[in-house]
Amino acid sequence: MNTLEIKKGIFWVGAIDWDLRDFHGYSTERGSTYNAFLVMDEKTALMDTVKATKTAELFSRMRKALPSGKLDYLVLNHAEMDHSGSLPEVLAEFRPEKIVCSAACRDAIVEHFGKHGWPFQVVKTGDTLSLGKKTVRFIETKMLHWPDSMFSYLEEDRLLISSDAFGQHYATGGRFDDEIDQSELMRQSAKYYANIILPYSGLVTRLLESVKAMGLEIDMIAPDHGVIWRKGVGTILQAYSEWAAQKAKPKAVVAYDTMWGSTAKMAQAVVDGLISEGIEVRAADLKGWHRSDVMTELLDSGALLLGSPTLNNGYLPRIADLICYARGLKPINKVGASFGSFGWGGEAVKLLNEELQSMKIPVVDEGVRVKYVPGDDDLDKCRQLGVKVGKSVRANLGI
Ligand code: FEO
Repeated sequence: MNTLEIKKGIFWVGAIDWDLRDFHGYSTERGSTYNAFLVMDEKTALMDTVKATKTAELFSRMRKALPSGKLDYLVLNHAEMDHSGSLPEVLAEFRPEKIVCSAACRDAIVEHFGKHGWPFQVVKTGDTLSLGKKTVRFIETKMLHWPDSMFSYLEEDRLLISSDAFGQHYATGGRFDDEIDQSELMRQSAKYYANIILPYSGLVTRLLESVKAMGLEIDMIAPDHGVIWRKGVGTILQAYSEWAAQKAKPKAVVAYDTMWGSTAKMAQAVVDGLISEGIEVRAADLKGWHRSDVMTELLDSGALLLGSPTLNNGYLPRIADLICYARGLKPINKVGASFGSFGWGGEAVKLLNEELQSMKIPVVDEGVRVKYVPGDDDLDKCRQLGVKVGKSVRANLGI
């Protein structure tokens, strides 16, 4: 299999997973890649490995780029199995003298693979590793997104190997950002941020500031998923800065499920009200929308509205799925509201309001409940709910 020299003496030797469709609950409709980089200098270093199922692909590229078949160092920037899965096979085949990683990564690797007496060399922020003409500087990025996460910066090449940060689950033939469709690239980057990085947004802001303070010159960012940023380094750094701030636009997500169509009619009326206030809307019938696409749209939205009929004194299971998923991702800077039909109990709206509040999304109205089928007056109340939420979004944005 082909390798690609991304900088002089630095080769991409990773694997492309065209068929991946789920990444722990995140829909990866464009697949993914597991990037690994071989640095050839007086010493040789492999930066990260790949998912266990892709070991043969890594080995095929490695054998081409590393004729000696022997590594000096294996640098592990992250212990998660999509980057460490082939570790035992890499150690057996390429026999590195040292596994270079953070202390938390060493501990996690032992907890994943057991105690084998592997030759760890623990590094921390500011430590360097000389490979000859090339120097690797390490920057721990704890909780971005695991405790063990780390960046490796190749000083002379001004190359930042950024582990999961700045990645995309996006399988492509092109390895560089300027070789593929730009709008799809940014959509996949935003989806990755919204579904993986979002809960750590405060840390992202601080990390971007500290990288700036370190004065690192970066002319290439090589994440462990997706394409390598060559032309758009500034673009992705700016996007991360904005996504980390979770700056909202005049935009709202209306996520709902419906039993016999009443809550769907209510959703359309709510949408009408939002549009009348100049709010960009994503109406997401959860029978057709994946939770991770809802989160992507929520990233730059100023409101989340939830709609569900009452079922068995609660709300419908697809709404429960979205709430469970969204709660963990901790979106901020939103307002909320709820609506839904019912037959007799009618608890869903009250429960949805409580869920929104527990997610620190303030509810701007008690919501709209409709018995069985909405009439014109009911739909007008739904329109007014949309208007009220729209005004609230605009007020929060100062527009
Ligand atoms: Fe791509 Fe956190 O692993």
